[in-house]
Amino acid sequence: MDNFQFYSPTEFVFGKGTENEAGRYVKKHGGSNVLLHFGEGSAVKSGLLDRVKSSLEEQGITYTELGGVKPNPRDTLVYEGIELCRSKGIDFILAVGGGSVIDSAKAIAMGVPYDGDFWDFYCGKSPEAALPVATVLTIAAAGSEGSGDSVITKEEGGLKRGAGSDLIRPRFSIMDPELTCTLPAYQTACGATDIMAHVFERYFTNTTEVEITDRLCEAVLLTMIKETPRVIADPGNYQARANIMWAGTVAHTNIVGVGREQDWNSHGIEHELSALYDCAHGAGLAVIMPAWMEFVCSHNVLRMAQAAVRVWGCEMDFERPENTAREGIARFRRFLRSIGMPINFAELGAKEEDIPALVEKFGIGDGRTGGFVELSAEDIAKIYHIAANAQI
Ligand code: NZQ
Ligand code: ZN
Repeated sequence: MDNFQFYSPTEFVFGKGTENEAGRYVKKHGGSNVLLHFGEGSAVKSGLLDRVKSSLEEQGITYTELGGVKPNPRDTLVYEGIELCRSKGIDFILAVGGGSVIDSAKAIAMGVPYDGDFWDFYCGKSPEAALPVATVLTIAAAGSEGSGDSVITKEEGGLKRGAGSDLIRPRFSIMDPELTCTLPAYQTACGATDIMAHVFERYFTNTTEVEITDRLCEAVLLTMIKETPRVIADPGNYQARANIMWAGTVAHTNIVGVGREQDWNSHGIEHELSALYDCAHGAGLAVIMPAWMEFVCSHNVLRMAQAAVRVWGCEMDFERPENTAREGIARFRRFLRSIGMPINFAELGAKEEDIPALVEKFGIGDGRTGGFVELSAEDIAKIYHIAANAQI
């Protein structure tokens, strides 16, 4: 196991009705004049936004609303949010929604106290200050409710890039699994795929002697394999929703990834798809992650076979462990198909002829990137081609 530092300062408030406590928690964490940030309407339609507003009013907290965050959140609304916060003297940002709303809130939080362009933080610069951010989560997926990351798309040129800082880790996150019962099956499955991908990005490592994090990863994956079909079949199943919601947070605070090298190429490769086609991040991962696994399989076949045995229940072929590893990947694809995810470019709405443009935007030139396996631009093109033509 490698040396590590683990910092997860978020206060998680989990369970039925907890959204009615939002005002109390804002006050506890020092907010008095809030930017209430939300998406394109689900929180309004469900009545959630009204309940959150009432809880702020009960505590005498003033607020300004900024809705309209789109999935794959855009820089344009972030600029608007920064100006709004400055003009209204906002001291706290409350994101009510999913990863997109939370990431947009985090971008605004970094941008408000900064003199330059907030996009600098998405090109490698570290922020020195940020407004406090908190969340009321409505979808189990990105893990942004517990992460120090934010992913934003620049409208001009369609660049999707990430920023990371402990300053944007949410002060608190309210997580009521009941709120996720209104999610359509497709969004539920996209979220589940993203959660599993966050674990696989960490599971495939060259670091040895990492039993504790291996086992934590496997626990999250086995939970997702059991619970996802239950909520697809029965969207109102509170207990299954609750298990998935907490799995999504555990998958991405990095508690399952500390002390080990991680990969993250599948995420980078996927982000170009959601930037170009505006598809859901989880759906893009369903197409990319098994393709990446196929491409890197021979690099550390025993680790791939370990996943196949412990996660997918395959029998170990000691003579030819590669067969076991490949069977694990096949079972992953079949699982994704069973929950309604696309498995190739056509099903996602992507085009094979766009691959050179996708690789170009990925932007590594002659360099290499990745933790488990370092990839060149040519390797990435090959992975897109595997993804384009995948079949079951
Ligand atoms: O906008 P509304 O109307 O709220 O609709 C949303 C949106 O259309 C809908 N939705 C959310 N909660 C709902 C609901 N519909 C009905 N009932 C509910 N309770 O779901 C749609 C998707 O929402 P979105 O926030 O985009 O989903 P998700 O949480 O998957 O976030 C995706 C974004 O997070 C980024 C992705 O790249 C993508 O941009 N990621 C962020 C990470 C992070 N910050 O740590 C890590 C991830 O790897 C990921 O890259
Ligand atoms: Zn993700």
